[in-house]
This record gives sequence, structure tokens and C-alpha cells, in this order.
Amino acid sequence: MNICIVGTGYVGLVVGACLAETGNQVVGADVDATKIDGLKQNQLPIYEPGLDHLVERNQAAGRLRFTTDVGGAVATADVVFIAVGTPPDEDGSADLSHVLAVADTVGKHMARELVVVTKSTVPVGTAARVADAVGRNARHPFHVVSNPEFLKEGAAVDDFMKPDRVVLGAESDHARSCMAELYAPFVRTGKPIIFMDLASAEMTKYAANAMLATRISFMNDIANLCERVGANVDMVRRGIGSDERIGPAFLFPGPGYGGSCFPKDVKALAKTARSNGSGLRILEAVEAVNDDQKRRLMQKVCVALGSDLRGARIAVWGLAFKPNTDDMRESPALVLIDDLLNAGANVVAHDPVAMTEARHRLGERVTFAASSYEAVTGADALIVVTDWNEYRHPDFARIKEALRRPVIIDGRNLYALDRMQRMGFTYHSIGRPAVA
Ligand SMILES: NC(=O)c1ccc[n+]([C@@H]2O[C@H](COP(=O)([O-])OP(=O)(O)OC[C@H]3O[C@@H](n4cnc5c(N)ncnc54)[C@H](O)[C@@H]3O)[C@@H](O)[C@H]2O)c1
Repeated sequence: MNICIVGTGYVGLVVGACLAETGNQVVGADVDATKIDGLKQNQLPIYEPGLDHLVERNQAAGRLRFTTDVGGAVATADVVFIAVGTPPDEDGSADLSHVLAVADTVGKHMARELVVVTKSTVPVGTAARVADAVGRNARHPFHVVSNPEFLKEGAAVDDFMKPDRVVLGAESDHARSCMAELYAPFVRTGKPIIFMDLASAEMTKYAANAMLATRISFMNDIANLCERVGANVDMVRRGIGSDERIGPAFLFPGPGYGGSCFPKDVKALAKTARSNGSGLRILEAVEAVNDDQKRRLMQKVCVALGSDLRGARIAVWGLAFKPNTDDMRESPALVLIDDLLNAGANVVAHDPVAMTEARHRLGERVTFAASSYEAVTGADALIVVTDWNEYRHPDFARIKEALRRPVIIDGRNLYALDRMQRMGFTYHSIGRPAVA
């Protein structure tokens, strides 16, 4: 099939590369000329494991190409995916201006019967607005499909290649059969394609992210209570996660959720609820708990070192909002670093892949260390923010030797309490007894 993907960010690039990998002719179109120039030379604008090989192989095979000519790319397509950003507006609602601008372009440039697929996360009712925008100029029949994306950054290629399910809001036989054909190679192990109406598909994406964010905030609340009553949240997590009705995933407490999706999608769904006269009180609490949780690590620093950090040097391990990505959007590390700098500390940061992105965001305010051990050298405390694999089993003797004071504040509960005790660290984690 001839596919056009508009938007070559995290989602558009992964979707385009994976659809090319299964034999389709794919054009990725974006208004960002720098991004497109780089992609033509196999330089990816993001870090995503496995994606570079896919892009390189499919460009070499002639199945994948990139352009800034969005209209021209639409004109060659049987299916257009809209995968542009939907950032939060001032009132929390999703800003649909990019999505609707693309829909307008699609209507003007379509050259045959077309399936127009919304991949971006958009509120209920957007499919109708996309149909209006395309229809204003359309000279051929078209079918609007809502196909929310559930990939996780850091495992995006795998998630797209082997999805748990594919959700498709479609209201014509042509759209349903076209999408079923496109997705057939990805669901060969029997994972379902779930067809539904457009509104339900749009709602499914928000409900999924809201549920995941709720689990995280719930566990962070429980973790904070564990600290007060002398329980260990790791034990509690295992105790409840083994209940089949609850399950073990997404029960890890931490420094609060971040990333490009949960924060904005929780806000947008809460806004949709308010606009429709149906408060989602749980979600308001999920967001408030998360905002507080992003300040927990700083509170622990103050407990360990006092609140006046002038002259203190603090090492921060992990800047990305989660491992295996360089995405720092809404990362808890950004809140922590601001708090540390405001308290007068010097911050020395390390991240295996996000330091280029961090330099753009933080500039000269932070020192960037070439290695995790360089970061801790001469520091008054180490704070672990992101659970990268390389931070899981470090050389603790070397860390203790390098630190000025043996203080570790662990936002991901990576280290065993008894080991920290034995080695003489002052160790604070989330929802577990402090080691003094
Ligand atoms: N990142 C994720 O993990 C993820 C997962 C699922 C769903 N989503 C959703 O997918 C959508 C895209 O997210 P992303 O993280 O890929 O965004 P992104 O910011 O990484 O990429 C968006 C791209 O769209 C391009 N763009 C904007 N306006 C354009 C236009 N008019 N014409 C052509 N290109 C245009 C931008 O230049 C950019 O390259 C969002 O709605 C997001 O909520 C994201």
C-alpha cells in the first residue's frame, strides 16, 4: 500500500519505519526541514532502540523516504496517517491546530479515494472535525479512522511490531478492510484488532493512559504512607501485584510520572470531563499527587543535608523521564534540578543518552559529567532519578570513596536496604525505611 505519515516524531517515525518494514511504500512528511534533512541521511532526531536500523534498511530498499512536501506526499497515498503533536493548550485541553492543519492539507491534495487515520492522541469528537476539515476541499471519497497508538518510548519498535491489541475506530467497510490488511502482519500471533466506533476509539486512548497514571499516583500515595507507618512498599507491591485482579505492572513508586503523554493526556481528559459536566475527580487527584511526588526527592535531600544547599555539590543520575529514551518532556529530573539550583546547590548530572537534549534545556546551569562515577566525585549526595540499567549494579565502594558524604537518595528503589546499611550509606528511597 502507499502510505503517507505526516509528522516524523516519536510516533510517526516508528509507525512509518514499521509499515515500510512490512513491504509498504511509505513517505514520512514533516514541516521541520532540519529533521527531514537528517532523516534522509539516516540521522535520527530521537534515541529509540532499534529504530535506526529500520530506517536505514528501508530507505536503502527504497520503501521509505522523507520529504517536507506534505501535500505532494498526500497526493501519492492510499492511506494518510496524521501523527503530529497535540500539546496541551492553556486550559489543559489538547491543541488540535496541527492535526486540523494537516487535515486541511489532506483535503486539498488528495488525488484518489483515501483513508485518513488519526494516530495523534485526540479528544472525543476530533474525527468529526478532521472529516469537516478534509471535506471542505476533498474531490474524492475519503474515510476517517481513529487509530490511537499505545507504543512506549524506549520499546516503541517492539510495541508497534507486536502490539497487545490494535484499536480501530472506523465507520465504513472500505476503511475497516484497508486497516485490517495493513495491520495483519503485526497481529499474526492472535492479538486482537478491536474495531469500534470513532468516539470509543478516541476515548480508549485517554482511558488507557489515565488508568496507568492512576496506578502510578496510587502507588506513590501508598509509598508515602508506608514511610509514615514503617511499612516497605516493595513488599506491599509484591503482595498486591500477585493478585490476578491487580497484576504486577505499573505498581512501582518513583519520583512521579513524566513524558510527553501521561501529563498532557491526564489534563486533557480531565478537561473533557469538565466540559461535559462530568467531573473526573479521581484524575484531578492523580495529577495533584503527581505534582507533589515530583518534589519528594528534594524533600529527602533536605532531610539528609538540610534545606540550605549553598556550596553543596549534588550528583544526579538520570535525566530522561524513563530509561531507553532521550525524551525529557515533563521529566521529574527537571523539577528536582530546579529545586536544587534554587536552594543554592551545584548540580552535576549524568544520563547515558539524554545529555544532548539536557544541554538544550538546561544549558550552563548544570555541569554534565562524562560518566556516572565522574558525577559523584566530590559530591555531597547522589540522587538517582531514572532507572537506567547501568545504575542498577554500580560499584558501591567506588561511589562511597568518590562522594564527599556517603548519601544516596534513590527515586527508583534500585538498591537493597541491607546492603546500603552494611556499606555505611545514608540511604533514602521511596516508601521504604530510611537507612541512617
Ligand atoms: N511519544 C509517545 O510515546 C506517544 C505515544 C502514543 C501517542 N502519542 C501521540 O502521538 C502524537 C505525536 O507525538 P510525538 O511524541 O510523536 O510528537 P513529536 O513532537 O515527537 O512529533 C511531532 C512531529 O509533527 C511535526 N509537525 C507538526 N505540525 C506539522 C504539520 N502541520 N505538518 C507536518 N508535520 C508537522 C513536528 O515537526 C514533529 O516532528 C501526539 O498526539 C502524542 O500524544 C505519543
